[in-house]
Amino acid sequence: MDIITVEAPAKVNLTLDVRYKRGDGYHELETVMHQIGLIDRLTLRRGRSGEINLSSNHPTLPNNQENLAYQAARLILQENGQDGVDIYIEKNIPLGAGLAGGSSDAAAVLWGMNRLFDYQFDTTQLMQLAARLGSDVPFCLLGREKGQAGRPGDALGATAIARGRGELLEEIPGCYLPWVLLVKPDFQISTAEVYRSLRLDELEQRPDTAAFLAAWRDCDIMNIAINLVNVLESVSIKQNPEIAAIKVGMIKYGALKALMSGSGPAVFGIFNEEQKARQARDEFLNAHNEVFLVSSYGRGDKSARTKITTG
Ligand code: C5P
Repeated sequence: MDIITVEAPAKVNLTLDVRYKRGDGYHELETVMHQIGLIDRLTLRRGRSGEINLSSNHPTLPNNQENLAYQAARLILQENGQDGVDIYIEKNIPLGAGLAGGSSDAAAVLWGMNRLFDYQFDTTQLMQLAARLGSDVPFCLLGREKGQAGRPGDALGATAIARGRGELLEEIPGCYLPWVLLVKPDFQISTAEVYRSLRLDELEQRPDTAAFLAAWRDCDIMNIAINLVNVLESVSIKQNPEIAAIKVGMIKYGALKALMSGSGPAVFGIFNEEQKARQARDEFLNAHNEVFLVSSYGRGDKSARTKITTG
């Protein structure tokens, strides 16, 4: 194989709870992550021995070791130094948004290079490499690492509870959310700074993960909506009121609920009517550049997935 194209979907956090700050500086999480159909596409080719060349269609995406996809290639080549790779990223996921775009690109590089060069890393080994790159990378690998033999680049999409610093994953059956509206305000947020500013003793609301999971199991969209809670909003919204304004706008335009994803600033709203979702997208496009109407991610066997009940 000389070339492979791999999809790298974004994720949203449907719940995000921080239990406590750990001795190693990370925060102990309990978060439900869900892949959505906002997708980067990576094309990987055999390159000159020992070289990593990264390019993209994005004007400000770093093409050196600052880019997590570059770090992923370097990591997997450490033990296979005679190979080299050219990586092209068709970037669609906003940067620094809380949507795991960089992590998903990195997961796609690990998975794609393993196939391209026939390295034979098994799932456990790939997951270990992923965890060394970042807390969200193992989740991004998850959807890719199941049930897709013989279909390069194809993936089923994943939903999972992530614990630990994000790397301990328990997969849960996927509901299919047909209308998820994403709005990314025109600034980026540093995840490390958000965690640094988090005051756990001052939190006003925490997710009820058990209640969320019960709603998710039944694909009961009303109760899914009620239970969307992210404790990192307490930091990111205080510092950036525009996030709250987007949430208010989402509800005004008919979303059942809107939530910031990860450490933000991207906000997603879930809708139970296509027409409302489209109107809301058009309204947000008047004032924002990065607005995307998507569904849950999944190119695999949709018949195995449960559609939501919209009441
Ligand atoms: O693992 P990753 O590099 O994506 O994390 C970025 C930063 O976010 C970490 O350096 C840490 O400050 C913070 N973080 C945390 N607890 C987590 C995940 C990330 O404190 N569970």
